[in-house]
Amino acid sequence: MTSSRNDELLQRSRAAVWHPCTQMKHLESQPLVAIVRGDGVWLFDADGRPYLDAVSSWWVNLFGHNHPHIRAALHDQLDRIEHVMLAGLTHEPVIELSERLAAWTGLGHAFYASDGASATEIALKMSVHSWRNRGRPDKNGFVSLAHGYHGETVGALGVTDIPLFRDAYGPMLRPSAVVASPDARDAAGGDARAHAESCAQALESWLDMHHAQTAALIVEPLIQCAAGMAMYDPHYLRRARALCDRYEVHLIADEIATGFGRTGERFACDVAGVRPDFICLSKGLTGGTLPLSAVLTTDEVYAAFYDDDGARGFLHSHSYTGNPLACRAALAAMDLLDDDALRRNRATALRLSFAARVLDEHPRLFHARQLGMIWAWDVRTDDPLFARRYHRAALREGVLLRPIGRTLYFMPPYVIDDEAIEHLVRGALIALENTLAEDDAAGARGASLVLA
Ligand SMILES: Cc1ncc(COP(=O)(O)O)c(C=O)c1O
Repeated sequence: MTSSRNDELLQRSRAAVWHPCTQMKHLESQPLVAIVRGDGVWLFDADGRPYLDAVSSWWVNLFGHNHPHIRAALHDQLDRIEHVMLAGLTHEPVIELSERLAAWTGLGHAFYASDGASATEIALKMSVHSWRNRGRPDKNGFVSLAHGYHGETVGALGVTDIPLFRDAYGPMLRPSAVVASPDARDAAGGDARAHAESCAQALESWLDMHHAQTAALIVEPLIQCAAGMAMYDPHYLRRARALCDRYEVHLIADEIATGFGRTGERFACDVAGVRPDFICLSKGLTGGTLPLSAVLTTDEVYAAFYDDDGARGFLHSHSYTGNPLACRAALAAMDLLDDDALRRNRATALRLSFAARVLDEHPRLFHARQLGMIWAWDVRTDDPLFARRYHRAALREGVLLRPIGRTLYFMPPYVIDDEAIEHLVRGALIALENTLAEDDAAGARGASLVLA
């Protein structure tokens, strides 16, 4: 698969770059792919070989790589001002972006950072500090959902419930409470709504005991993506909203992965008809071009900080807060996400779902599920290395797919066309058959060894 150019880049990368979410030793057997160019849903490696970006480059890309509208906005902004600090100064892109995000979310007072985990940190800090400013310093704890993921900086990891990411850093983390996830896969008799209700009752019991020490409930609305695209009934969100109101606990919606059209509406909270107290945005915010995140909140929270006393102000800053280039990219991406784009997504989702029936019906796949522009299936395999082997097999078919554990999922850019859909489904299926065949052969070899 590699030529000298690709080979050279990956050797240099292995030597010089510490790659994220990667055991570097695995790169001995799992070669990197050196990407030199992108166009729409396609990525091209150093040998010119195309790969369909079926995971939107870690869920960030909405309108394809190298989109002309976003590119033009960035060129225009580069000719004006590339970056300027946001303390004591302001600029048009950040003002306009804040106004437009407020109009879309029904919240306001946008606070910026550069990645999802920082947005989580900001929402957690704002929540605790606002209670403190309101004379309730004991309300400083958090509650989150089992298997939830909110990022990997220390505060965000504290409300993340994925052992792989947490365990090594446990001693650094502040204890935080976890309540049952409404994951529809756990629903008895497949009744997702009833399961959502019973999980809401568990939340209610927990809040009833602990609300006086709790600042906020943080959730990924409708889909816990890193948990393996765990989807749940919107009833849970509505109940959570009502409970947070009753027990005076903030509701933080982490829409870092679900925002900007992924779930069918602009935000997953819109699907449920719920307005949170904080919304965390990143990933698709810039259409997948530049790092940027934002937290928006209510007037009530904002008012708790508005004072002559500097120490009552929100104390958090990053050097690149509100970077003008990133804000222009976000404005351009928002231009593209109009009502027509949401309508087109619904049509695209129907076509992709139709093409993917072959996976729904596959005997080794179960729990087929879809919401908006996300599809997922769980795989019947005992191989703990399934995800890595599948990833490699899919690359051989010209498709970038990275299962999460034993969950295979598609989260393609919204601009995927019929030809690319066909390529995706065919590649995913061949990769599945090949991975499972290796799996079964290994199983059979294991069995004959035991028998021998
Ligand atoms: C729901 C959710 N929150 C937070 C994050 C963290 O974002 P980042 O990787 O930009 O720090 C992610 C990343 O996958 C996410 O899915």
